[in-house]
Amino acid sequence: MQKVIIIGAGLAGLSASVTLAEHGISCALISLQNSERAQSVLAEGGINASLNTMGENDTVQNHYEDTLRGGVYLADPNAVQNLTFHAPEIVRWLEKLGVPFNMTDSDIMLRNFGGQKKKRTAYARSSTGKIIMTALIDEVRRYEAGGLIQRYPHHEFIQLLTENQACYGVRIQDAYTGKMTDFKGSVLLCSGGMNGVFPEMTTGTTQNSGDVTATVFRQGVTLGNPEMIQYHPTTIGISGKRCLVTEAARGEGGRLCIMQNQQKYYFMEEKYPELGNLMPRDVVAREMYFIRRKYGGEVFLDMTELSSVTWQKKLSDLRQEIMHYLALDPKTDLIPVREGIHYFMGGIDTDEYHRTNFRNLYAAGECTCQYHGANRLGGNSMLGALYGGRKSAETIIKTAEFLTEENQEVSVSVPEKASPVLIQKISQILLSGLGIVRNQETLLKQLNALEVLANQRTYSFYEQNRLLLAEAMLRSALERRESRGAHYREDYPDKNDNFRKTTIAECDDKNRVRISFRPIPEKRADI
Ligand code: FUM
Repeated sequence: MQKVIIIGAGLAGLSASVTLAEHGISCALISLQNSERAQSVLAEGGINASLNTMGENDTVQNHYEDTLRGGVYLADPNAVQNLTFHAPEIVRWLEKLGVPFNMTDSDIMLRNFGGQKKKRTAYARSSTGKIIMTALIDEVRRYEAGGLIQRYPHHEFIQLLTENQACYGVRIQDAYTGKMTDFKGSVLLCSGGMNGVFPEMTTGTTQNSGDVTATVFRQGVTLGNPEMIQYHPTTIGISGKRCLVTEAARGEGGRLCIMQNQQKYYFMEEKYPELGNLMPRDVVAREMYFIRRKYGGEVFLDMTELSSVTWQKKLSDLRQEIMHYLALDPKTDLIPVREGIHYFMGGIDTDEYHRTNFRNLYAAGECTCQYHGANRLGGNSMLGALYGGRKSAETIIKTAEFLTEENQEVSVSVPEKASPVLIQKISQILLSGLGIVRNQETLLKQLNALEVLANQRTYSFYEQNRLLLAEAMLRSALERRESRGAHYREDYPDKNDNFRKTTIAECDDKNRVRISFRPIPEKRADI
């Protein structure tokens, strides 16, 4: 039997499984799809680490400060310090695993990314996630061959097995046979962001449905900062979702503009002379929203000044993607772009060691609220997933109670999935309340609409979970009476340091959602 059960086989899950295996601990890696189809393969632009290979005197301290500032000081400074300190070592490890990063003559090349004054983002053209995943999957296979990692693709998380605020396993369904099994052991959730809550508006895979987060929330696991939803400034509309135009396009010189009297007006450069188009994403997305509201029309990404070498060596895959979906050539045409939901800074609440409020239950990667505060910097997501996976595995090794019970096949009826109609209705409510600009009036209106919807009929287990998750998101946004990072309240347009706290959402055993605020930990001495 495996000692640890990992839900999710993207970057965080793979990183955790390899770390456990390196320590001789066996795990079951459970995922609805193969790793090759995980959200992580969609990550484009790169991974941050202060490798300082570009002669810019970059340091871990710079990376730490940029990450905290980008997240508007809502992240745990100790966690961020660990993350940024270990970033160079993680990228060097990937290099050793064979990730073909773009190189200077002698070392890993770094590019500019948003919210950072130094070149700090290591990349492999603009398919970095896919390429890193390929290397990690190979590494996992090595341990799989040795029996330490057992993969269960096409298996779905149903619910946690818990008793007295402790987790002792998970109920899993084989998606092909329908067979249900209770896997016994400590559990690490690496189930990704809540993309499926926002079909049509997300750049992510809706296979990350949000059901795991919704279910564990209903089971009593607390959430942190669920109102913090990142809108990526540059996405294009394709059938059924938003497609990412990587921030690397701006990192390599792409510029945002609107057309005024047939002239290009580069509004970001005028307002933010230092970082211009590479301001943090929350700022860029808001400016795009406001400029459209003021002048109408579209915002365009102007990449026409990029050199042929840049297109060839750094962004060839982006060019192909745009030509494929829009029949426009970014080398010569302006590309109309809009904001799309790209990342969830909030999620399952953990401490710096990735422990949840249940014993023997841990979480890492995008499903958690760790590292990114109120706004994530581009390039920090793969880092957060890889480092978080590793850190949580180390915590498990130190703190988990390793159970010896065997897995057990169970015969219970399969809960019905949320209906697509309900998912759409909830999504509409959330998008109306949790847009780039929010206010009390709309949040109350959408909470009311959600309540009306909740009272319309009897809902299945999964449907109720999603309704509760939606309520937690809206209520958190309502209670945070300030503007910070991705959460912009036009009725409270300023940051208020009384709210420099983590929003905690809890669901009690009567399905009542409660919101409170927890102070951010003090920073300990430098490591
Ligand atoms: O724009 C991008 O390539 C996204 C990167 C990220 O979210 O880290």
